[in-house]
Amino acid sequence: MNGQFPLGGRISGSRLATTLGDWRQSGSRRGAADLASAIELQVLDGRLPVGTRLPAERELADALGVSRTLVGGALDRLRESGLVASRQGAGSWITFPQGGRGLRPAPADRLDLIDLTHASPPAVPALLPALDAVRGAFAAELLDHGYHVRGMPALRERIADRYTARGLPTSPDQVLITNGAQHALSLVLRALVGPGDRVLVEQPCYPNTVGAIRAAHALSVPVAVDPHDGWDVPGIDAALRQAAPRLACLTVDFQNPTGHLLGAEDRERLGVALARARTPAVVDETIAELDLRDGVEPVPPLAAFTRDWAITVGSAAKSYWGGLRLGWIRAQEDLIDRLAAARCTLDLGSPVLDQLALAELLADPEPVLAARRTEVRGMRDALVAAVREHCPEWTCRVPDGGLSLWCRLPEPMSTRLSVAAANHGVLVAEGSRFGVHGGLERWLRLPFSLPPERLREAVRRLGVAAASVLSAAPAIETPAGAVT
Ligand SMILES: Cc1ncc(COP(=O)(O)O)c(C=O)c1O
Repeated sequence: MNGQFPLGGRISGSRLATTLGDWRQSGSRRGAADLASAIELQVLDGRLPVGTRLPAERELADALGVSRTLVGGALDRLRESGLVASRQGAGSWITFPQGGRGLRPAPADRLDLIDLTHASPPAVPALLPALDAVRGAFAAELLDHGYHVRGMPALRERIADRYTARGLPTSPDQVLITNGAQHALSLVLRALVGPGDRVLVEQPCYPNTVGAIRAAHALSVPVAVDPHDGWDVPGIDAALRQAAPRLACLTVDFQNPTGHLLGAEDRERLGVALARARTPAVVDETIAELDLRDGVEPVPPLAAFTRDWAITVGSAAKSYWGGLRLGWIRAQEDLIDRLAAARCTLDLGSPVLDQLALAELLADPEPVLAARRTEVRGMRDALVAAVREHCPEWTCRVPDGGLSLWCRLPEPMSTRLSVAAANHGVLVAEGSRFGVHGGLERWLRLPFSLPPERLREAVRRLGVAAASVLSAAPAIETPAGAVT
């Protein structure tokens, strides 16, 4: 996209007004600047994709109930910052900021944006030495064709060994290497779910899970994960019987975003419920290795309690590095055969160098994981302390593991806060992103995957942004039952 042509769809004035919600900053009289910032946030959030054609000025002004001058001023700012392009006859559309331009230049702290939309720490220090160590093995691989549809044997073997060590005996033939956990989930959905099928999901849950279910043209059936008490296994049992889903998607190891861990007894009960309903479950173990408790025996994988009903999805992303883009599926051999066949229509394997490096890390994973846990524990504790200091009215349960705090806000204000926070140089994912059908306006996910000093600064800015939101608008009553 070079900014010359609008390539995307068109958004109507009323739709854009709904998407923008309450876009005015507290007590602000800078209407054009506020509107421009709110539109920019939607672009950064991916809700207004590059190429989207914007409504005409008059249409947007009518939809927002503001003057055309104000809308024109906002568009001027967006054009200046390179986020919007316009041409006579073609209207205006979202474009790419060229040469790193963008809004919010002025105040010093806005120059350095802190991105809290990713729960993903930087690479473990051991990754570079691992890459060095596999140079010789990589040179040998260069003489071969390089395609390993199921993954490289050495890596599959080490992943199988890791499951066995965690209490789930596994053979390499039960492992398929993928390009990350998201790819793995999509492959399973492709193999097991058809259009119109129901898929049970947690609420709140990782947004890309719901996105993958939607992309498979299936319907998400939410079951609540209580912010304080976690899963309601009898409730899941009832949902399995009543909704008869084709598949369940569960993240029982430090759930994203709540951080809950399902205990052994509940794993046992859940296993019985899945078997009775004959519903397979995709168990997303992306965050499973980030158990931050000290001296506590880790609970075995859910698949150890479910016989053949669990299909486990794992990832190198959080334990080692997201940029490795490596994940895997652990399942019964016949399902792995089907998934390997299905994969060939999508891609034909994962990068060889990355697989070699991950296999090297997995040769002796404990020291690397122990260091990772210490690092993440430090980030968690810094974030919790910063929230207590700068946002004392927020409440959050300190999770035993994972990468995020799920914070309850004093008011249903999550979207407004995310807009205000962007103006203070912090990007956050508002609660509604984690709701199957939106909602969750009283909640905000804060990941702890940045260095402690960055987290402290981010929360300081969030405290200022939250104060501006609170002083601005009248409190909105939470509609009954809308928040979990
Ligand atoms: C629960 C969960 N599943 C899957 C993913 C995506 O993992 P990957 O990077 O391996 O595709 C994430 C990343 O944040 C996650 O939190």
